[in-house]
Amino acid sequence: ALERTLSIIKPDATKRNLTGKINAVFEGAGLRIVAQKRIHLTEKQAGAFYAVHKERPFYGSLVSSMIAEPVVVQVLQGEGAVAKNREVMGATNPADAAEGTVRKLFAESIEANSVHGSDSLENAKNEISFFFAETEILP
Ligand code: CMP
Repeated sequence: ALERTLSIIKPDATKRNLTGKINAVFEGAGLRIVAQKRIHLTEKQAGAFYAVHKERPFYGSLVSSMIAEPVVVQVLQGEGAVAKNREVMGATNPADAAEGTVRKLFAESIEANSVHGSDSLENAKNEISFFFAETEILP
């Protein structure tokens, strides 16, 4: 089915000027960027976005890393977009990521792993509405 998923190009990647290269990987895999904006997250926004990880030991460091530089938040659309994007991103830890994936190509570490993508259709809906109004999404 045609789906939408929320993608974030993280500070480690925007800092290294990799937005276009990462978008080329998404587009090459058949995902369409139907909404996109560059924003600087506040600590409150980043903390709320990653609230499910609040009890994890890496939460504070994750939030700090996400507010260090601007991010690019985007809505990707395509057939099976949620799973396709996860495939194209590769494993969370770049050491485990398959050849050709965004994280294998570009990520620096498990935390500075260049991209975030929604892990389910339900989370995709919530994460998209966290950043975008329906009127900002132009398929
Ligand atoms: P992301 O897909 O954005 O979802 C949660 C993020 O937490 C994950 O990518 C990583 O950036 C980070 N993360 C997950 N596990 C660890 C870990 N063990 N140590 C540090 N950061 C982690």
